[in-house]
Amino acid sequence: MNFDKKLETKVNEVERIIGKYLPEEKGYQKTVIQAMNYSILAGGKRLRPMLMQETYRMFRGGGEMVEPFMAAIEMVHTYSLVHDDLPCMDNDEYRRGRKTTHVVYGEGMAVLAGDGLLNFAFETAMKAFSFAEEKEEFARIAHALSVFAAKAGIYGMIGGQTADIEAEDMESGMTKEQLLFIHEHKTAALIQSAMMTGAILAGAAEEEIAKIEKSAYNIGIAFQIQDDILDVTGSLKTLGKQAGSDEKNKKTTYVTIKGMEQAVKDVESLSEEAVEILSSFKERNEFLEDLVKRLITREK
Ligand code: IPE
Ligand code: IPE
Ligand code: MG
Ligand code: MG
Ligand code: MG
Repeated sequence: MNFDKKLETKVNEVERIIGKYLPEEKGYQKTVIQAMNYSILAGGKRLRPMLMQETYRMFRGGGEMVEPFMAAIEMVHTYSLVHDDLPCMDNDEYRRGRKTTHVVYGEGMAVLAGDGLLNFAFETAMKAFSFAEEKEEFARIAHALSVFAAKAGIYGMIGGQTADIEAEDMESGMTKEQLLFIHEHKTAALIQSAMMTGAILAGAAEEEIAKIEKSAYNIGIAFQIQDDILDVTGSLKTLGKQAGSDEKNKKTTYVTIKGMEQAVKDVESLSEEAVEILSSFKERNEFLEDLVKRLITREK
């Protein structure tokens, strides 16, 4: 099977798993649940749950224990997008080929849908305990939960988004170090969360988890640089979100600091370094390595 066919199969598998954990649209809170499902069912690449599952497989994880976490990370990621698009943040009108949640449901409901997704992510991840039998498995889930929580929070994604909005309109130029702080936290943190929880749940050793964290750092930085590139070169039709959002918001991006040519080169070298780390493990996952390589040339 070629890579694209495999990818399609994997995306379908991830979507089936996410679908199992979505809340039912009923009760007096029906509207917020509809708004949550609207954004999560809009599609997207499903990269984070896929990276989690493939890392889990790489360390010979089996059974359903990873599945609640796969749904949960897509919920956290989707909440970050719903809030990122709000008028008080990036003020964007399209996401995943649809009107953004606040445009369809109003700002109040979009704030609550984001809150709902974040909280429901934890409610969902904790369902992993129902698949645990041995003491060791309960311990792994608890460890995974602590990484999952930290990487989404003020020392992770929220921290990065904070620095990102404070950097808008920055009068004096931003340094590369400041920008890397933003990219590491707003984007790499959830990629690290995905891959580390996959490794932890499968029972990887401490030093293996540390190597996965480093590889995921590279993947995450490369991923955000490519996102900055596509904000310049892409279109609504291929991206499913409007290009030019960074310029509109006067954001400093990897492209504005280093230039397009260097940005393209750095995506490649960071991704290659990530693959090198992945290929240094005893057990390898060829699809995972191919997926990381494919992100270098992604157009959406
Ligand atoms: C968009 O993430 C936000 C960033 C961190 C760059 P994705 O590009 O993974 O968005 P979806 O999930 O495919 O919509
Ligand atoms: C957002 O970065 C990262 C998040 C944590 C949501 P961007 O603001 O560049 O993401 P897009 O381009 O809107 O998807
Ligand atoms: Mg943003
Ligand atoms: Mg944005
Ligand atoms: Mg962007």
